[in-house]
Amino acid sequence: MGGRDATMVLLDENGIRCDGRKVDETRRVMIRAGGLKNADGSAYIEFGDNKILVGVFGPRDVHPKHMSNTDTGILRVRYHMEPFSVGERKNPAPSRREIEISKVIKEALEPAVMLEKFPRTAVDVFIEVLQADGGTRCAALTAASVALADAGIPMRDMVAAVAAGKVADTVILDVNNEEDQAGQADMPIGYMPSLGKITLLQLDGVLTPEEYKKCVDVGVKGCKDVYELQKKALKDKYFGNGGD
Ligand code: CDP
Repeated sequence: MGGRDATMVLLDENGIRCDGRKVDETRRVMIRAGGLKNADGSAYIEFGDNKILVGVFGPRDVHPKHMSNTDTGILRVRYHMEPFSVGERKNPAPSRREIEISKVIKEALEPAVMLEKFPRTAVDVFIEVLQADGGTRCAALTAASVALADAGIPMRDMVAAVAAGKVADTVILDVNNEEDQAGQADMPIGYMPSLGKITLLQLDGVLTPEEYKKCVDVGVKGCKDVYELQKKALKDKYFGNGGD
């Protein structure tokens, strides 16, 4: 954010965005459940040019033991970007940004996962960003939900996620990297569609109260669309080609 490229046209006179989308359109989304033989559950997502792989392990013993909770299971999330996932090589060591994103994804998943059924255990979620193009936390959260379901972990709901935002004084759905860099606001939203509850809401930028409300509305609608693709990915794996 912050207008790094002042010459970029983020929205043309016909209301078309820099990558050809309409204001309320998401990028192409492809989700696949499973794929990693040695994980208990896994998922792969392509969200526009984002490519992210998630592996889930558990419920399993907690090491170190003092981290375990006798009343409930615990969820641990590691979000990691490959050095080659961005234009300028990223140091493989965990950055402050990755630590923050791991925390927000964990907190966004916790309301959905029935950890109380597995006291003293841990469920570990490993997220590998292979290619990043804006909105990786939302794409990763979406894929992590599918991977948890694929692992057979009991859940109250899926968490579907997409960012809303503002470019050229206009509210848009699914902020890409250029729009994130040069736009006016970015609002990642995670949403449990069956329960109708928001589990992630962040905001980078400035919005009026009306724009804020519109971003939430547009974002939640986008999450509902993403949810359909999450269900399809699971049906494709377990029932073959989307049948039920
Ligand atoms: O990915 P997300 O939008 O959730 O998080 P962000 O911190 O707003 O990052 C936006 C985008 O910046 C990422 O998706 C990457 O495309 C890019 N980025 C980068 O090029 N180099 C980094 N070290 C970190 C992020």
